[in-house]
Amino acid sequence: MSGDCSPQYGTTSAASIDKIIQMDCLEYLKQRVVKNIDMTFLDPPFNQGKDYRYFDDTQPPEVYWEWLKEILGYIFEATVEGGSIYFMHREKNVGWIMKVLTETGWTFQNLIIWKKFTSAVPGEHRFGKQYQVIFFATRGEKPKTFNKLRVNYPLQPWQKHERANGMYITDVWDDIRELTSGYFAGDEVLRDEKGSRVHLQQSPVALLLRIILSSTMPGDLVFDPFAGTGTTLVVAKQLMRHFIGIEIDPFYVKLIEGRLSRIREADNILKYRLYYRFTPNLDEIWPVNGLERYSNPAGIHLRP
Ligand SMILES: C[S@@+](CC[C@H](N)C(=O)[O-])C[C@H]1O[C@@H](n2cnc3c(N)ncnc32)[C@H](O)[C@@H]1O
Repeated sequence: MSGDCSPQYGTTSAASIDKIIQMDCLEYLKQRVVKNIDMTFLDPPFNQGKDYRYFDDTQPPEVYWEWLKEILGYIFEATVEGGSIYFMHREKNVGWIMKVLTETGWTFQNLIIWKKFTSAVPGEHRFGKQYQVIFFATRGEKPKTFNKLRVNYPLQPWQKHERANGMYITDVWDDIRELTSGYFAGDEVLRDEKGSRVHLQQSPVALLLRIILSSTMPGDLVFDPFAGTGTTLVVAKQLMRHFIGIEIDPFYVKLIEGRLSRIREADNILKYRLYYRFTPNLDEIWPVNGLERYSNPAGIHLRP
């Protein structure tokens, strides 16, 4: 790339910044057109037999993990020193995840437990599943950005006094509600005209808000190679980060374009701002205008 280069992104074409691109992400990465990624959210199909239009979700594990390893290697190459990756997957695959992350050069920082509000029905021989794992890793020993978020975490029944300054986020995230199919799901779930969910893996806005706020600054470049419904991009845009999303399915690409062109009230991140108000550098990492700073359309807490 040459004449159309954005100075901020080295050789990443300015034309592909702040866009969703319809493509196979591995083919995209092989072109080496993206450079200077600050943070990636990696939420691939989990190879668990789900019905994807453009992905075989029933592959032999070795084939599937070799494919993800190749993707992780290219992302590593395109990430700035100190840049981050958040890799979400199933708890039963932690061995594979550590293997492919370390083999591609990433430095492990945290294994985040995203504890869901609902749980799977117990199996014959094991407990019901109630969390998702998110590996946080960096290119290099230390992240170049790590914003220590403080939240107004709700008091537990045995706690008597409100905390004057909230509390720091830990590696267990039990205050972010998953999106479900039933009434519990609220307005955020994208549905078709019959009321069915258009994408069963849609991530909550609150999850991406926490990830992007923790590991980036305004103006940074956020990358999502498996964009799905575009949650990462919708949050990055509101937080004034740049973004590149890749999605193979043209139906979802259209959906993302619509979701980005007009931010729905259900996707509006401002409702979470008061929850994060004890974060010392909040105004710096989450720029808002004066009025928005005090707006809180849907209550203070993330928890219902
Ligand atoms: C688990 S979903 C991601 C959901 C997303 N986090 C969200 O909030 O909606 C994985 C997505 O990857 C897409 N996908 C599958 N194979 C792909 C590939 N080779 N390149 C790009 N996207 C792909 C699927 O169509 C699916 O939408």
